[in-house]
Amino acid sequence: MSETFFVTTALPYANGPFHIGHIMEYIQADIWVRFERMQGHRVHFVGADDAHGAPIMLKAEAQGVSPQELVARIAAGRPRYLEGFHIGFDHWYSTDSPENVALSQDIYRRLKAAGLIYARPVEQFYDPLKGMFLADRYIKGECPKCHSKDQYGDACEVCSSVYSPTELIEPYSTLTGAKPVLKSSDHFFFRLSDPRCVAFLHEWLEHPGHVQPQVANKAREWLSGEGERALSDWDISRDAPYFGIAIPDAPGKYFYVWLDAPIGYLASLKNYFESGKARANGEPRGFEEFLRAADTRQVHFIGKDIIYFHTLFWPAMLKFAGAPYKVPDNVHVHGFITVSGEKMSKSRGTGISPLRYLEIGMNPQWLRYYIAAKLNANVVDLDFNPDDFVARVNSDLIGKYVNIASRAANFITRYFDGAIEYGPQLEALTEEARSVAGQVRESYESREFGLAMRLTMNFADRINQEFDARQPWVAAKDPGRRAQLQDTCARALYGFKVLSVLLAPVLPELSERVARELFGLDRPLRWDDLLEPPRRVNPYQHLMTRVDPRQLDALFEPADTQSDTAKTAEPAKAPKASPAPGAAEAAPAPRPEAVPATIGIDDFKKIDLRVARIAAAEHVAGADKLLKLTLDLGHETRTVFAGIKAAYDPQALVGRLTVMVANLAPRKMKFGLSEGMVLAASGEAGGPYLLCPDSGATPGMRIS
Ligand code: MSP
Ligand code: ZN
Repeated sequence: MSETFFVTTALPYANGPFHIGHIMEYIQADIWVRFERMQGHRVHFVGADDAHGAPIMLKAEAQGVSPQELVARIAAGRPRYLEGFHIGFDHWYSTDSPENVALSQDIYRRLKAAGLIYARPVEQFYDPLKGMFLADRYIKGECPKCHSKDQYGDACEVCSSVYSPTELIEPYSTLTGAKPVLKSSDHFFFRLSDPRCVAFLHEWLEHPGHVQPQVANKAREWLSGEGERALSDWDISRDAPYFGIAIPDAPGKYFYVWLDAPIGYLASLKNYFESGKARANGEPRGFEEFLRAADTRQVHFIGKDIIYFHTLFWPAMLKFAGAPYKVPDNVHVHGFITVSGEKMSKSRGTGISPLRYLEIGMNPQWLRYYIAAKLNANVVDLDFNPDDFVARVNSDLIGKYVNIASRAANFITRYFDGAIEYGPQLEALTEEARSVAGQVRESYESREFGLAMRLTMNFADRINQEFDARQPWVAAKDPGRRAQLQDTCARALYGFKVLSVLLAPVLPELSERVARELFGLDRPLRWDDLLEPPRRVNPYQHLMTRVDPRQLDALFEPADTQSDTAKTAEPAKAPKASPAPGAAEAAPAPRPEAVPATIGIDDFKKIDLRVARIAAAEHVAGADKLLKLTLDLGHETRTVFAGIKAAYDPQALVGRLTVMVANLAPRKMKFGLSEGMVLAASGEAGGPYLLCPDSGATPGMRIS
């Protein structure tokens, strides 16, 4: 029976480009979507940027642009990644949209009418200079327990104690350096602790399939917490200035970003329907009819860090808003991707840059396969290990799968002009294919992709073994054994077709080429094609190359000419004349005689100098020379520890343009990873003096 699905992935914050964690989530969802479509189901797969919130507002401000401009710039970069990794969202939209305003306000009004919204005053730190209430991460001060300086408002990074910002000694606003004052303001709350909500959520979690068992357990713990861990109501409002959606009838109050973010799923869906795309995708119904339909399955793919929002607030909001809103049918939670066992960081050098992966010409389907092979339906982390990646892709995709086609098709082309004829045992092979496909289908359906890949590769092994055992290269030499040769190759090619169907959700482009080029089909493969033994094959054309381990080296190099720079930039013997890479010690002006011999223009060109905007600057606990700078390069941000503390007040730097070396090898420092160096002058007359381009220059511009 054919079903209709509405599938989403978590909406990424629109304050930066995608990282490998996002791509992993999209690959998981995309494979599942493609699989369901192959089963004949209709799927609407939508995403959007999560545009609102204080961080985006402040980042835009630091860059001197409106939040809308910042979000638009980030959004403009999305297609390269999505197309690059063959991620086929039907629609991509934004939470900063008229649809989301209307839906969020509607849901809020309904929750209010249901008696689930109330207001009460909340006392909070306020930055009097900035005129803004401060979230914990914008407050720093001395830890009340261990007295380390410059600790965040919620927890100490040195002694790990947790406290409230009001307990900090000598707190200051990281936005202006001002001393925050306590100020009271009315906030709106969603009454999550209401017995109706709690009862409903218990029931919703109970239902098998809504969430994985371990996720349900976690959510139940939150629901049933007692004492200090008792379930609290949810603060859903923020005071102006805030980049968000206005709360109806409450001037100066905005919805907290996490209220309108999941509603953004529906906003994107609505815009997709109203733009006519849903219809073009085979959907006869309108948005509201579709939304309320009992047989529409609403499926969310998310990561483990946002379970709370998706298994408590979101279902409760939908439930008590009432029809046409409907509670989610599945919230599928995945773990995090790590790289060589290390937690992924957004900084270059420690994670994998998805764009770099594409730019150096690595095949996106390798990554799709590798991720599929390592994913299962549990909330477990997945490690990207370079050696494992090379071994797995090469042995499975090339060694087991692609090779079958090249070996068998060449014989059929050469001796039989492309015609495939089978011997008497064909039915047994079809039965075998049917049985394997049934197991693979169940594995895909339950998101046990790793199992699906193992079953598929076992079948590939079976096909290869039979092919080898029959030694077609021997039969080819004997004109009397033509029929046997043809049958051997026919069976291998049938096996290859079956494998291509089974792998199609993971390797969309490759399977499409197999269908068209090899088997002459004018459409993508369908699941049932695996029961159709091919009758002809076209001459084999190269399908996929092996991974070259050197590509992995290139992937992990932080920038283009990095290997050269990294070596020559070691502080080695002359720390004064060549600052520690990454440490961005302002280089003291070398005496004329200390200037090295001339270099060619090519040497100079190796240095990637860029205009950077200082988006944030802060003191570093325990460092007496360093400031931690967040540098905006237009399309990405970098963290740099610069030895300029003596000369600059961090707040005075925010928003300024300067010059950075963008391709310096990242350097792990005691305080974190430094990803470049800012340029400054110094000499007998003092310093360091930061460089600053003339007005008109914008972040990311190349300096030459
Ligand atoms: N904006 C919120 C989500 C709102 S949904 C209504 C958000 N954005 S995010 O950009 O921080 O994360 C988006 C998704 O990426 C989340 O599902 C998150 O779990 C996932 N991942 C972030 N880092 C990840 C890994 N290292 N590995 C896998 N997924 C990760 O949260
Ligand atoms: Zn402490």
